[in-house]
Amino acid sequence: MTHSELREAEPLREQDYLRLAELIHGRSGIRMPPSKKTFLEGRLRRHIRRLGFATVSEYCKWLFEEGGLVRDETALLDAVTTNKTEFFREPYHFEFLSNVVLPNFQASSGGQPLPLRIWSAGCSNGAEPYSLAMICEEFARTNSSFSFEILASDISTEVLRVAMRAIYPHSTIGPVPMELRKRYLLHDPGSDEVRIVPDLRRRVIFKHHNLMDESYPASQAMDIVFCRNLLIYFDRATQRKVLSRLCRCLKPGGYLFLGHSEGSVADLKLPLRRVGPTVFLREEAV
Ligand SMILES: C[S@@+](CC[C@H](N)C(=O)[O-])C[C@H]1O[C@@H](n2cnc3c(N)ncnc32)[C@H](O)[C@@H]1O
Repeated sequence: MTHSELREAEPLREQDYLRLAELIHGRSGIRMPPSKKTFLEGRLRRHIRRLGFATVSEYCKWLFEEGGLVRDETALLDAVTTNKTEFFREPYHFEFLSNVVLPNFQASSGGQPLPLRIWSAGCSNGAEPYSLAMICEEFARTNSSFSFEILASDISTEVLRVAMRAIYPHSTIGPVPMELRKRYLLHDPGSDEVRIVPDLRRRVIFKHHNLMDESYPASQAMDIVFCRNLLIYFDRATQRKVLSRLCRCLKPGGYLFLGHSEGSVADLKLPLRRVGPTVFLREEAV
């Protein structure tokens, strides 16, 4: 073992863990119980190596005592977020969208050309909003007056960069149905990557947004909010705060989609009625 490896192997001190945990929880909402210490240490080691620090405690000293936080907060939060996602993840949500939500929207719009507005909150690398865009674009093929807008946001700037490039390894497109691959993915023979077609890329606006912020997109503006597999990282009080702000962004009659393990909202006293597996209808005005 070299000298520098030895220094890197110095364990994360309890007092440093506590102040990092408090910072991360306060800024991102992500819970940092003591059981996450090893996880955090692993994520930080890669991050601090890139910055050139030899130990986590040197990094913490810089971060908390020497003004490092101003420069490093975004990158630190990038380093600790979990961004697992995939195209058409939890496929029943996309079936519900094309079989129930879009036809209902079209029927109730009375032929008025108002766009359907969707927000993918915690969109990770873009697989979720581009899956949504494919479903909406398919619906538009047979409903000429239908149009849509998708806002996609995340706290992590790294995943937003990937999302805006819209280039993915070929190995990730398994869940995309063949018909949709042909229409919406570009693939150079000989390359092991695909790119979302420009027409679909233009339908999704990406934005850096932290769900812990007070300011959310305009009140009652959204027909649909997808906020999936993100709330599980938050404690109950934070979940409640975030969900109630998300409710305020939804039009009455709009739909909220949560992740498969995030379905218990009954105790939160929100204006939501369950209409499918982790799908909720926003009831009356709040
Ligand atoms: C596990 S991924 C889920 C991605 C996608 N929704 C899905 O279900 O496949 C969770 C995403 O939430 C983002 N996230 C975590 N905390 C956040 C916050 N406070 N505000 C906005 N996004 C956040 C993470 O950066 C990550 O990309």
